[in-house]
Amino acid sequence: MTRPITNKTQKKFFLIDGSFIQEGLGFDFNIYCKDSHNNFFLLYKKNTPIMEAYAKKIIEKKEFYIHEKEREAYSQFHQKLSQLSKRHSNLEESYQRAIPFAKKLFQGSVSTVALAETVGIIHSLTMAVIEKDDPLSSVITSLMCKYQTSTHSLHVCIYSLYIGKELQLAKEQMLELGMAAFFHDIGKSKISQAILEKKGYLTPREYEEVKHHSLYGWSIAKSFGITNKGVLQGIRNHHERSDGTGYPDGLHKREIHLYAKIIAVCDVFDALTTQKSYKDSKGTFETLLMMKKEMHNHLDTHIVNAFITIFRKEHP
Ligand SMILES: [Fe+2]
Repeated sequence: MTRPITNKTQKKFFLIDGSFIQEGLGFDFNIYCKDSHNNFFLLYKKNTPIMEAYAKKIIEKKEFYIHEKEREAYSQFHQKLSQLSKRHSNLEESYQRAIPFAKKLFQGSVSTVALAETVGIIHSLTMAVIEKDDPLSSVITSLMCKYQTSTHSLHVCIYSLYIGKELQLAKEQMLELGMAAFFHDIGKSKISQAILEKKGYLTPREYEEVKHHSLYGWSIAKSFGITNKGVLQGIRNHHERSDGTGYPDGLHKREIHLYAKIIAVCDVFDALTTQKSYKDSKGTFETLLMMKKEMHNHLDTHIVNAFITIFRKEHP
């Protein structure tokens, strides 16, 4: 390990997915980590195989970075790697890999995240749902942990993909749905933590600010270069309601994009089944039943039924 690189150069480092790092491998780019003072230091020197004694030390690190000037070398390597691993994508693995990216994005550090790679991870999640037959009920147990905006987005992404599969969406649509669901609350990165984490009631002004997150998200997605209409509408309209009382556009059932309707159902489901600080989580079946009975003016019944069908098939 070498001398830390000071924070002045921080913006030139990009978070990468380090799950490819293994003993015996060598790469043609340097890999960096951060110390407890947020200074970057060189963890792996390029073109040297990782020896057994050092491999464990490297793999133990949770976050890995590359320098901007080696982005091209890393992209080429990552492209080859994702082609090789496409057939072996596993949902749990992709989920674990996606967590640090989601956390960075929702801390508002979009510029330090290799966005192309985040998209690659969403791709892996989508392919894992399409190609594997992991029962959703087994996945849900591990997702019912403490509520955080970042992991919530990942949960909504996974649930949405299961519904998309149940609705027999084409692969292209699944990828778009995965993107929209993963980024649906990205606009919350523009809202202060004090408001997002406030216990108890929000003032009318604070509530209006929180409501603005879908529009913020829509413009952040556009700033990422996302142009797909479905993805953008999925983000912008995930708080619309079938009866037209939602926001930001007050759309009615038929006007709301399918992706936004799916995300809305999964958003409610995850919020109710994970533990927020001020209430306990609800059980899966209790939640689905309540959503079907009490939220038919807000949520699309067809989508809620598709969600229920997935569980019925698993628990006949
Ligand atoms: Fe939202």
